[in-house]
Amino acid sequence: MSPPLRPISVPRFKASKQSGEKLAMITAYDSLWASIMDDAGVDSILVGDSLGMVVQGHTTTLPVTLDEMIYHAKMVVRGTKHALVVVDLPFMTYQVSPQQALENAGRIIKETGASAVKLEGGVHQSETIQSLADAEIPVMAHVGMKPQSVHHLGGMGKIQRDEDRIQADAKAAQEAGAFAIVLELIPSSIAKTVTEDLQIPTIGIGAGPHCDGQVLVGPDMLGVTQGFHPKFLKHYAELGKQARNATSNYVAEVKSGEFPSAKHSHE
Ligand code: KIV
Repeated sequence: MSPPLRPISVPRFKASKQSGEKLAMITAYDSLWASIMDDAGVDSILVGDSLGMVVQGHTTTLPVTLDEMIYHAKMVVRGTKHALVVVDLPFMTYQVSPQQALENAGRIIKETGASAVKLEGGVHQSETIQSLADAEIPVMAHVGMKPQSVHHLGGMGKIQRDEDRIQADAKAAQEAGAFAIVLELIPSSIAKTVTEDLQIPTIGIGAGPHCDGQVLVGPDMLGVTQGFHPKFLKHYAELGKQARNATSNYVAEVKSGEFPSAKHSHE
């Protein structure tokens, strides 16, 4: 039996930039899936506000509330022994002021037991990132395609190609004290330059192979979500199809009387 994995702290996560070990991050929203992913050896679990779309059935991440994030994050922390748990600050829980961000990030850390928060932005959020970092609340930034800017961007899945802007956002986030940065939907060549220029790890989603780590939405990667096929997504399983087939077999067996058989019944 292999020895139990040591928990991953923020300093250890950050140190992977120097060691060159690639970081594998994934989203999860409850204890059941978090424990499966943690056992499988992911370095970090992101309680993403993508839960608004993946779990709650909204078309954007905007309706997700802080209380909902806290509810899901508590479950994820209970299911995790090893991975670094990072929790998204949802829309309009940090954009008003650094003070608002501090109070809400403080609630996440205090009430959930997670180690870090994530917010979207670079240059325009640098004061906020700095005030969280000054309060010793570890912050992961998120630049490139920012899902909370869906209306400003005119849609969700648009590749961001403004290299100067992406560079400036990533540098500003690092200078303000972010310990890592998610790069979403940007060309590989830009992600490579940003990754080489920064001292903190970059975690890519749709940003190519040169980032220091990768993140995928768990239910997308496992083929649970249906009808979502962006170029960057790889299905490592087809659990959605398997679950549908298994459920329709169950329905057929209940209706035909095949289930429960004597094997599944008490004398
Ligand atoms: O909310 C989320 O799941 C995210 C990832 C896509 C990085 O921000």
